[in-house]
Amino acid sequence: MTASIAHEVSQALSGILTNANICLRMLADEPPNVAGAVATAQRTIRDANRASEVVRRLREMFSNKEPVIELVDLNNAVREVIAIAGGELTRRSARLQTELADGLPALSANRVQLQQVILNLLLNAADAMGEIEDRPRSLLVRTELETDGAARLEVRDVGTGFDPAIVGKLFEPFHSTKPNGMGIGLAICRTIIESHKGRLWASPNDGPGATFSFSIPAPRPKLEVDKGSTFNAV
Ligand SMILES: Nc1ncnc2c1ncn2[C@@H]1O[C@H](COP(=O)(O)OP(=O)(O)OP(=O)(O)O)[C@@H](O)[C@H]1O
Ligand SMILES: [Mg+2]
Repeated sequence: MTASIAHEVSQALSGILTNANICLRMLADEPPNVAGAVATAQRTIRDANRASEVVRRLREMFSNKEPVIELVDLNNAVREVIAIAGGELTRRSARLQTELADGLPALSANRVQLQQVILNLLLNAADAMGEIEDRPRSLLVRTELETDGAARLEVRDVGTGFDPAIVGKLFEPFHSTKPNGMGIGLAICRTIIESHKGRLWASPNDGPGATFSFSIPAPRPKLEVDKGSTFNAV
């Protein structure tokens, strides 16, 4: 996924170069095509802003001074995100409920990155419900222990939902249906979850809305000792 974000940024950069060249040619025309050059320069600026916004957001997510991997209690991580984002969700009339499971494994994870993922999923859910007026804007965050011991988190909304035929597209960089969306939130979320050896996916609800879920495996024991080994497990 990181490679695909890099690919998109480099596409944007080559677009910028192409447009800058077109702009120069338009100015060199006899008579100069000033209106065309202005429009092309504006496109160049838009693309450059887009590329630098992507870089800014990637920095924000990945440039923790030192990537801190610690044992993370997923439920506590959720509670902290809600403490930060709760006000924003209330402003958007989202009614947040939580169902946090007992007995989840402590995850070996970068807490700040996991919280970025949770926050992104909550904000997307609130966005998806922004125009819903005929039902309460219910938002549910659940955690669950999977049968293989992994921890799962789900964010379920009752928003506009998505067309199941394009579910893969949602995670592609720059796919956005929002007027001011960058379309990079889910791509970054997936990168983060995969760097934790986990999975992130989306499913349409039976009723209205969508559910975005991730699952992260429990950390393996520090030292795995094979039968013939003379080492002692710690
Ligand atoms: N909960 C949801 N319900 C329905 N569609 C969703 C949901 N979450 C995401 N999407 C769709 O996936 C697209 C991509 O989401 P993503 O978070 O990557 O980008 P974005 O929210 O548009 O912009 P940003 O870069 O600011 O996050 C959204 O534009 C929207 O169409
Ligand atoms: Mg988003």
